[in-house]
Order: sequence, then structure tokens, then C-alpha cells
Amino acid sequence: MGRVADTGVSKMSAARIDYRELVRDDRIHGRLYYDEEIFREEMERIFSRVWVYVGHESEVAEPGEFVTRWIGSQPVILVRDNRRSLNLLLNRCRHRGNTICQIEKGNAGGGFRCAYHGWTYANNGDLVGVTYGAGADPRDFRKEDYGLNRVALESYKGFLFGNLNPNGTSLENQLGRSIRLIDQILDQSPTGEVTVRGGALKHMYRANWKMAVENVVDSYHPLFLHSSTFKMIDSAGKFDWDSIYGPGGNARVRDLGNGHAQIDFSAQNRKAGSFLHSPISATARKDYVEGLAARIGRERASDILADGDPHFEIFPNFNYLPPGEIRIIRPVGVAETHIYYFPVLFKGAPDEINLERHQQVCLLHGSAGVIAPDDIDVYERNQEGFRARADEWLILNRGIRSEVREEDGAIVGMAYEETTQRGIWREYRDLMTRA
Ligand code: FES
Ligand code: FE
Repeated sequence: MGRVADTGVSKMSAARIDYRELVRDDRIHGRLYYDEEIFREEMERIFSRVWVYVGHESEVAEPGEFVTRWIGSQPVILVRDNRRSLNLLLNRCRHRGNTICQIEKGNAGGGFRCAYHGWTYANNGDLVGVTYGAGADPRDFRKEDYGLNRVALESYKGFLFGNLNPNGTSLENQLGRSIRLIDQILDQSPTGEVTVRGGALKHMYRANWKMAVENVVDSYHPLFLHSSTFKMIDSAGKFDWDSIYGPGGNARVRDLGNGHAQIDFSAQNRKAGSFLHSPISATARKDYVEGLAARIGRERASDILADGDPHFEIFPNFNYLPPGEIRIIRPVGVAETHIYYFPVLFKGAPDEINLERHQQVCLLHGSAGVIAPDDIDVYERNQEGFRARADEWLILNRGIRSEVREEDGAIVGMAYEETTQRGIWREYRDLMTRA
């Protein structure tokens, strides 16, 4: 009978968790996906110390508009107050800690009222009303000391990030090389702006949050996990998908640094055309291209359209996928994650273009979609597989000797290589071991 293999980490189980031991350059340990203590430390060392995506400015465009979100496990409210300023507030009443808002979005023009004992807060977070007055002694209680706790909020061109401990790096510093990909999204809009007001699709899965982070920049899996979708797109089986994803294929994966990563399909888009080849009328296509050219010139417009929409993740919780979707990854428990998918529309583009973008999000990633449900399923299967405690090391060495450092410091590999995963785990290890 075979022996259960030595997991290699038993000596760490009781003491402090040694993340340098668990996260190696070419492999990671399965425990990272199911250990409750590790999950708790991730909420502190990652989500409580870096800039975390909380929403887009257009979601709260009008005074009073708010959305409820999370920074790791902590509930927050993103709200535009009556003076049009943006506020990010902890969703926790200053009396006894009740969440003061339980709905996902709405307009709090009149502020928020706690359902428990009725304290009221203005939509900038100020405490404005205490039922039956102050507690023991009114002289000891000043309302201005009990506004909702504020969280640091910064915007990069409308993309909003919150930080529970903004003592470290600036948002732009943290975004680093991913900034050019945010710019690439905006460059495609005739006005240079996007709107994210089309609601959200949601998935819940019973597995660890990091699977979704890694998967979105894993282009080793699509031809296998999503094979039925590829067969549906090309029922005659004539297209050579390996020319994109396989050895010698033209897609690339890129580690952008700081845990951010990209799958670069621009070579294929340049060869075969991007979303404009989907069924859009000639009039809408022309209006859109003309609008773009009017803003940035014909040459630049055709360059941008040739590259197409980018596909990337910003560590730890933001994804952008073509054609036009932001995802927020919300860790709920060590083996429970929620994902929100928001269609991203081009402000000023013909309705037909935006409708097509919106429909593509539903088609690909809705509950009956042809892509995301496959991925969700596999996360849960992975988590189930981790119950088998044999040799628990997970191999991430594909391409480790052949990847290339580009001039600006990004690291690039072939589509089927694990360059992006290694980049994510390098940042993870850095954050989890940083003092
Ligand atoms: Fe909010 Fe008491 S908990 S008013
Ligand atoms: Fe997938």
C-alpha cells in the first residue's frame, strides 16, 4: 500500500505560517487555498494594506447615489454626497456596529438611518441624529466625533480604489504597468470615458478567492476547459486554435509586476479583427469609428481598434475582460467567493455598439453563459481535490526558463505558460511576509 507523501510543511502547522516556505518560485502549497488561518491573515496583510477596487465613478454619478461593496471582509459604502464629493465609508453604525445599509445600490439623498436604534447619518457620513439625544451625559458626547469611519479613496480616471491603511504607496504607484491597460479601455471610447451603470451579474462559488484571480490570466486552460465553446464557435472544426493558444501561437501572457497580469491577444486581434467584426450594422460601426477618429485622429483610432480590448487583472480583486466587463472578486470565506460582473459601456458610442458589449457579457458569463460557468465549476472541483492530502505541491513552472523580461521590466511568456501565476504569487508572498 502506498504511503501518503510528506506534505513538506508539517513542521509549520503549529507555529507562525511561513509563506516563504509555502510559496516557492516554481510551486505553491495546496494549504494556501483551504487554511482558515491563512485566509484571516490575507484579509489583514493583503486587503487591509493595498488599494482595492471598489467601483467606477459612473456608478455613483448623481448626488446621493451609493453602492455597497467590500474591502476584503470589511463592508463599505461608496456614496456621492449632496455636494457631489465621493466618500468611502465603513458600513458600520457607530452605536452598536449594525450595518447601516443592506442594499446593493440606491440613492441616499436623505442620508442613512440605522435600523436598530434609529441613529441617522448624512450621505457624507456625518452623524446628524441620535434618537432621544445623547447617552449618559450630553457634555461627553459630540456628534462630530461619531460620523461613519472614512476609508481612503483614490481615483484613476474614474476607476475607484479604497485603502484601509494608506500609509504605503500611492494608487498610481501600485497600479504601475496596469495603468496602460486601463488607458487602453478608455482609448476605445469616443469620449475617452466609460459608464458602468448596467447592473451586475453575480456568481457565488464554494472555493478560494485566489482561484478566480489566477484563472482570469491563465490562457493554458481555455482550449481544454472551454472546449465545448470553441466547438460551438467553430462547429466545422476548421479553425486552428493552437495558432492563438498553443506552442507557436500568437497570444502572450505578461506579468506586469505588483501582482497585476495580462493575457495579450493584440497580435490575434490585429490579424483577425476585434469586436467590430461581430454582428454590428455598418452604420453603427461607421458612427463609432468616426466618433473615435474625431477625438484622437484616424491613424490612432485604427491602431486602437486593431489592438482591441485588453484582458487583465489588477491584484487583488479587479479583472477586465473583453468585450467590456469589469469583475470584482469578493472573498467571503476561505472556501466561499462571490464574483460580480459589470458591463462597461463606451460613453458617446452608438447604442448598438454598447448593446452588443452588454449582451456579450451575458452570453459569455451569465449563469447560462458559455465561459464563466465552466470556470466556476472547476474552482469547486479544485477545492474538492485539495481534500486529498497527498503530495500537496502545485506546480507552476511552465515557461520559467524561457520567459523574457521586456524593456520596461514586464515579464512575458507564451500563452500556455505560467508567467502570470508566478507574478501573482510573487506579490502575494511579498505582501504576506512584509513587516
Ligand atoms: Fe445603529 Fe444602535 S446600532 S443605532
Ligand atoms: Fe476560463
